[in-house]
Amino acid sequence: MATATQLKALIQSHAERDDARFFAVAMQVAALEARQGHGTVAEELRSLIDAAKSRAPSTAPLRRTPLGPVAHDLADLLSFTTPSTKLVDMTLADEVRDRLERVLREQRQAYRLRERGLGPRRKILLMGPPGSGKTMTAAALAGELTLPLVTVVLEGLITKFLGEIAAKLRIIFEAMNHTSGVYLFDEFDAIGRQRAATNDVGEIRRVLSSFLLLLEKDASPGLIVAATNNPSLLDPALFRRFDDVIEYQPPTKELIRALMENRLATFPTEALDWARVVGAASGLSSADVVRSCEDAAKAMVLANEAAITTRAILTAFEERRPRADRS
Ligand SMILES: Nc1ncnc2c1ncn2[C@@H]1O[C@H](COP(=O)(O)OP(=O)(O)OP(=O)(O)O)[C@@H](O)[C@H]1O
Ligand SMILES: [Mg+2]
Repeated sequence: MATATQLKALIQSHAERDDARFFAVAMQVAALEARQGHGTVAEELRSLIDAAKSRAPSTAPLRRTPLGPVAHDLADLLSFTTPSTKLVDMTLADEVRDRLERVLREQRQAYRLRERGLGPRRKILLMGPPGSGKTMTAAALAGELTLPLVTVVLEGLITKFLGEIAAKLRIIFEAMNHTSGVYLFDEFDAIGRQRAATNDVGEIRRVLSSFLLLLEKDASPGLIVAATNNPSLLDPALFRRFDDVIEYQPPTKELIRALMENRLATFPTEALDWARVVGAASGLSSADVVRSCEDAAKAMVLANEAAITTRAILTAFEERRPRADRS
């Protein structure tokens, strides 16, 4: 049975002629039924909704505001932020930057593409080692496009019941149709990984394939970004469903230097032995390099020193390394 909140939301959205919200809440009712083991009712509700939707006029305006009563359930699934991060705040390999700029260019001029029957890139997979800037990239895309960053909360999504995960994924994809944003499925392999604990490969595949299907069918206006630092866990079939797969690498010497210069731009660095510090950073992630610079800068400020010292940076790097790797 629908909850009182859901019933109220249904009546309210009907009264306001807000079809998108009405259908989103109705989908939640269907998901609840599925959760309670009422599979037949859930299926009947879903087909009713699908049939009603195909008849409903699609005149409803695109809602840019955070979700109304649907938020009740969605609040556990989606987190909204409005980042001010920009692409220039990031230090990236040329190829990665070029590809991200192409995504932005196509998004910004989507109307020109659509006029000629083309669509902008909007389903993007980011792969790369931990701390290479994948999550930050999603924030930068949102910041550049002045869209909210809508992060899918994995703890809210992943439950013991396969049917429930699939229903929640459907609710999320439904939300994309009426709230535009950059939708981030961060550490997205976890959708499958969690299931791996049960060793039931069949179940993992079923969750991933329901994600694939939703991804493939999705024609919402938003940008979908999935990020993983464990691409080997992903089914290769998945890659084909994305418009672009962007690979991050550990930072090269040039990138390490650029990361450091950017982070330390407002601090005196004339005392730094660049060759030495850059050499000592090899094997660290971009995130480690940035945080080490912050550590050294804090040490300088608190010790009233005149400039960042080579020793402070080297110490900070060592502290970032896993104990086993320390020389
Ligand atoms: N390419 C980069 N340019 C500038 N800063 C970076 C870059 N990569 C990482 N950072 C810094 O490190 C922090 C953490 O990076 P981020 O969380 O984006 O990495 P990630 O690739 O998502 O890692 P994980 O795979 O562990 O989730 C960022 O908030 C930023 O301060
Ligand atoms: Mg991340």
